[in-house]
Amino acid sequence: MIDKLGALQARITAALDGVKNLKELDDLEVAELGRKSEFMLALKGLGELPPEQRRSVGQKANEIKTALAASFGVRRQELRSASLGALAEEEWIDITAPGIRPPAGHVHLTNQAIDEITDIFSRIGFYRYRHPEADWDWYAFEALNMPPDHPARDEWETFFVDAPVHPRLGRMVLTPHTSSGQVREMERRGLPIRMIGISKCYRRQMDVSHVPMFHQFEGLLIDHGVSVTHLKGVLDHFARTYFGPERKTRLRPFHFRFTEPSFEVDISCGICLGTGRLKDGAKCRLCKDGWLELGGAGMIHPNVLSAGKIDPEEWGGFAFGWGVERTMMMRSGLQIPDIREIYKNDLRFLSQF
Ligand code: PHE
Repeated sequence: MIDKLGALQARITAALDGVKNLKELDDLEVAELGRKSEFMLALKGLGELPPEQRRSVGQKANEIKTALAASFGVRRQELRSASLGALAEEEWIDITAPGIRPPAGHVHLTNQAIDEITDIFSRIGFYRYRHPEADWDWYAFEALNMPPDHPARDEWETFFVDAPVHPRLGRMVLTPHTSSGQVREMERRGLPIRMIGISKCYRRQMDVSHVPMFHQFEGLLIDHGVSVTHLKGVLDHFARTYFGPERKTRLRPFHFRFTEPSFEVDISCGICLGTGRLKDGAKCRLCKDGWLELGGAGMIHPNVLSAGKIDPEEWGGFAFGWGVERTMMMRSGLQIPDIREIYKNDLRFLSQF
């Protein structure tokens, strides 16, 4: 009997050496030491031995069994550390390697400009407000001293909304300028007013320097004793802060129905610094005479104040307004050859800003 167990032990130990992985080891253990294995069946034969042999043979058999279990344990340990070693080899991570940055978006360049413009005016006491971008003819034109059929309206190539006509306020339009917020603000808020309105505007236009949807910002200040010098001071504050400390503004006489007097606001050219000439005496190629046109401004017309139920004898104010896109393109000296790029949502373009 002991010979038989000894022979089995030799066979199993040899097989153990040939085992290549934990799975094979488990299979071998079931086959050779499981309940129905040759080894276990042989052990069962112990009970049939004469009692005087049983003790010594039993002891020996037990030693063989314990030795085999130990051999399995040792081999299991070997295989485990071998597989961990392989894992470390195959799946090692270089924790010093630079990370892979996940693609992240950022604020659109127009919104960056809007935030900055809002901030610049808020420092001198203007609050930002947004008025409706689809509004009545009354606010866009009539309250601004442009009666129906007045030719001045032609300047604003307006989209009309196919909506019921308001008996008093007229047709609905997509606001062609932020000046539609002037009388709205007079109605909404008590005096004095210091508003910077920034909203979308819409005009029937589309070419390299125009898009049908763009943004304007509208300054509106109404108070006692307001004069053109206040307007000039606010514009210079903006020019210096947004464009750079060496920049200044110039007011040129102009005409709007809703301001009197009216101006066009120019800013000194950032390339030739207002001289119109480059260092070598050549003519500046960005501007004509040292100045670049920003937009419109003026002192609020008494009829507009009256439309907003404000007494023009007692109160006065100024307004100014122009395009956000144009302004931001002027500052960066960005050579965006086509303003439509800003709204094509091409990430190769947008991610540069
Ligand atoms: N709303 C005018 C425009 O779109 C600009 C303007 C605003 C002029 C305020 C005067 C005062 O051209």
